[in-house]
Amino acid sequence: MKQHSAPILPDRLKVLALGEIVIFPMLAITITARNHNDIELIKECEQNREFIAIANQQANYSFPLTRENIFPIGTACRISRTRMTRESQLEAVLEGICRISFLRMLKIGSRPQALIAGYPEDLAHSADSTTQMLMESSLSLLQACCAAGQPLPESATAILEKIDHPGHLADLIIIYLQPDFATQSRALGLINAKDRLKLVHQLLYERQRKLNSNSAADNKPDPARWPQPGGITGRAAGNDDDELAELKKNIAALDLNKSTRKTLDKELAKLQRMNPAAPDYHNTLHYIEYVSELPWQQVDQENIDLDEAEKTLDEDHFGLEKVKERILEHLAVRQLNPEMKGPILCLVGAPGVGKTSLGKSIARAMGRKFVRLALGGVHDEAEIRGHRRTYLGAMPGKIIQELKRAGTRNPVFMLDEIDKLGRDFRGDPAAALLEVMDPEQNHTFTDHYLNLPFDLSRVLFIATANQSDPIPAPLLDRMEIITLPGYSEEEKRSIARRYLIDRQRKNHGLKDESLVFTEEALDSIIDNYTRESGVRNLEKMIGKIMRKYARRKVAGENLPSAVPQRDLADLLGPTRHRKELGADTSRVGIVTGLAWTPTGGDILFIEAALMANQKSNDLILTGSLGDVMKESAQIALSYLKTLAGRYQLDEDFHESRRIHIHIPSGAIPKDGPSAGLALFLTLLSLACNKNADHKIAVTGEISLSGRVLPVGGIKEKVLAARRAGIKRIVLPEENLKDLKDLPAAARNEMFFFGVKTIDEAIPLVIPDSNRAVKKEFTGKKPGTAAGYPAAPVIS
Ligand SMILES: Nc1ncnc2c1ncn2[C@@H]1O[C@H](COP(=O)(O)OP(=O)(O)O)[C@@H](O)[C@H]1O
Ligand SMILES: [Mg+2]
Repeated sequence: MKQHSAPILPDRLKVLALGEIVIFPMLAITITARNHNDIELIKECEQNREFIAIANQQANYSFPLTRENIFPIGTACRISRTRMTRESQLEAVLEGICRISFLRMLKIGSRPQALIAGYPEDLAHSADSTTQMLMESSLSLLQACCAAGQPLPESATAILEKIDHPGHLADLIIIYLQPDFATQSRALGLINAKDRLKLVHQLLYERQRKLNSNSAADNKPDPARWPQPGGITGRAAGNDDDELAELKKNIAALDLNKSTRKTLDKELAKLQRMNPAAPDYHNTLHYIEYVSELPWQQVDQENIDLDEAEKTLDEDHFGLEKVKERILEHLAVRQLNPEMKGPILCLVGAPGVGKTSLGKSIARAMGRKFVRLALGGVHDEAEIRGHRRTYLGAMPGKIIQELKRAGTRNPVFMLDEIDKLGRDFRGDPAAALLEVMDPEQNHTFTDHYLNLPFDLSRVLFIATANQSDPIPAPLLDRMEIITLPGYSEEEKRSIARRYLIDRQRKNHGLKDESLVFTEEALDSIIDNYTRESGVRNLEKMIGKIMRKYARRKVAGENLPSAVPQRDLADLLGPTRHRKELGADTSRVGIVTGLAWTPTGGDILFIEAALMANQKSNDLILTGSLGDVMKESAQIALSYLKTLAGRYQLDEDFHESRRIHIHIPSGAIPKDGPSAGLALFLTLLSLACNKNADHKIAVTGEISLSGRVLPVGGIKEKVLAARRAGIKRIVLPEENLKDLKDLPAAARNEMFFFGVKTIDEAIPLVIPDSNRAVKKEFTGKKPGTAAGYPAAPVIS
């Protein structure tokens, strides 16, 4: 017997009442449903790939299902196939997975559901000597029954001999013996394997006696069909000869390579030799059907007109010129050399900047199907590559599933949020993905379930990520990163006007309304209700407004022709974000820094304080700072020491009082070298007790020799500063070139100071720094310069 791993069952399942058809684990049964509710329920579970709970009821059944009118133990089943018959009945093949008990019945919507507990067979169970004896004795009793005329499928003895688990053996013998319903349900109700085996042994014993006493086999049950009260009939899932013949015909018509065909033929031959009641019959059938339905050769004709493609991209997305250009280049190269094994494009950017929708647009532009696999939270290799068929409830991995869904082998395949890939004890999905993405290997990608090579080389993979850092390095090596920088307010406005408003109007059935947004209303939504680089929340807010207007319309109200700004509070609630910086004045020891975050840019306040009565020459750093950021702080401190003379700082100011640096939003991890300059200025402001102008934002890496080095994410950072009402930015001179990516409006209303050295930055941010200050540090509390608040002291 194959070793099956236990399936993971959810704790609630939809329930189908089957009257007196008992489904044992490992048994597949074809049932026929006539009742509309049952048919819908089965279809729904099949579509969602949900397990279904089978409950048994006595002939005097009643509805609705309660814990009292069903048997306490039922079976969790997988629906492996369904078919509508000509009489509008639904035939479904149910495969028993494991016993369950019904803890509580729930009624959710029109479908009965139950909280359940599953009882998978304990495979580690090692049979004690009594159990061993019972097993052997049962087998010989069964043989005796056979000899006395008990009908048994040919393969039965061979199968039974291989089974070493008492519970499985007991179930299987019951399946072969087909006792009456009462006995079957009693056997199903015995969770303990040994108890079940005892029952079976008893049953065999009685059966043998009976067979011997009246050699006429009057006890032979009819395995073919049981009429059922609930409008459902069942039979051992069956060898429909027609069905098999049709399957064979279908397979013969497929264009398969030699080895695949050989495997399929072998499985088909195996299937024909099998008894339909055998536990493996349906697994094999399911496998053959699955394989035969894969798009082995189907390819979609690719659109090769680049002008057309460009038009499509422009139609779907505003702006993003550089990104579109890069995509078109990529397509052009593919076209010139279809065999080219180029890198995979990876769209990187904050949520809502249009990564996923660009992927769809690329597919549309190329005239190819689009499928998307969300990788967030995938941490099991089997989700990518499937389970081997020996695994109970085995299925192919998502790559193959999606390709089957696409129905062609050259779709655009989006590996969405590849930076969110997890990994744990169940294996590393990144390793499986690597094989999927590697052009040297992916023409023979082998899913564990299929166990056949499938050619992925014509699939156009596109990945997306919020950040490139967390992407495993080997995957990153195979990809070309295209950054989507996030939108300015002007760009957002245009996107809203050209795309989002119309789309939401349509979605909410207000297509024929002239409802428009005034400039003020739209600006207010952008400024006061959303703070993001993308437009996802903006779209949500617009949707929310449309929803409310749709309700008013249904209520018979007349809608205004434009959404008035004063209505926003009513429609969307109080504003969520304040655009302006707080009115509090500049302070000693606080500098406004700029950060790049996965959701775009943000401003952050870097604070430094002196610790009272603590001597130490190391820094205390708090606020979830990463190693690189900590090193920046050390560099800043070291450089500050070299300036001690110029600013008349005490030579050992850093040793006399311990310095604490904190960057708020302490729970959010921050790292990177780009806060170096801001860190330095914070320390200097503290050391010379002069205010830092908090209306000027600072970004830049620093070196020990006092140079300011370029950093990334300038566009996002500048736009974040602008959202916060900051007009002046100090940045590395080398980054001035990046400002061309900004919308003109932002460029025009803001001031940029490019600096090459730390020294150039000092007077910009700490205007009073050159006015000599006396050493304030040793021992005493820091003094307060006239009119300025003192540096915060933490004691
Ligand atoms: N440049 C753009 N032009 C038009 N619509 C856009 C643009 N950028 C984003 N959108 C829209 O914003 C929404 C969010 O985009 P989405 O692709 O889900 O973002 P992401 O995958 O990057 O998180 C979608 O409805 C998308 O069509
Ligand atoms: Mg997305």
